Amino acid sequence: MKNIAVFASGNGSNFQAIAEKFPVTFVFSDHRDAFVLDRANQLNVKAFAFELKEFASKEAYEQAIVDLLDTHQINLVVLAGYMKIIGKTLLSKYEGKIINIHPSYLPEFPGAHSIKDAWDAGVTASGVTIHWVDSGIDTGEIITQERVERLENDTIDSFEERIHACEHRLYPQVVDSLLKKEN
Ligand code: GRF
Repeated sequence: MKNIAVFASGNGSNFQAIAEKFPVTFVFSDHRDAFVLDRANQLNVKAFAFELKEFASKEAYEQAIVDLLDTHQINLVVLAGYMKIIGKTLLSKYEGKIINIHPSYLPEFPGAHSIKDAWDAGVTASGVTIHWVDSGIDTGEIITQERVERLENDTIDSFEERIHACEHRLYPQVVDSLLKKEN
């Protein structure tokens, strides 16, 4: 049995899509007032929250996260809107066990504003990518990706909604297949 931890900084809709299908050992947020913590409460999922600024260094902050992962014997870390770059302390111990979801068809539109960037560029389609996490930003090996078309009468809001709906379908599927793997 694999133990999953989900990391989220804000809203947590991807966390919810996963937690409704699989037991999540805990959710971690780097913001004490993140809405994902309310969702965790509703779904009876254990939650931890602390902030980088409460620590002397990024290393100390990440060491506290590593301690949580070790204590709970986590085998799969699911980043879902976790808005921090994973640093050396976490990566050196957990590389190969961390996945991320990104709302574009990577390598198109990396970064924090990919839906708006794709919209502004006038694309006919963007997409969703789920990938392993390495030391780069949105650069790790791709596990799966799916196209989301931009429709003729789309607004940026309706386009964004369909991208999120795709995420909520795709992420649990990937988690499911990783949970079924031996290692
Ligand atoms: C998602 O679009 C995800 O791809 C990106 O951040 C967003 C998080 O949304 N990394 P939510 O917090 O899961 O609702």
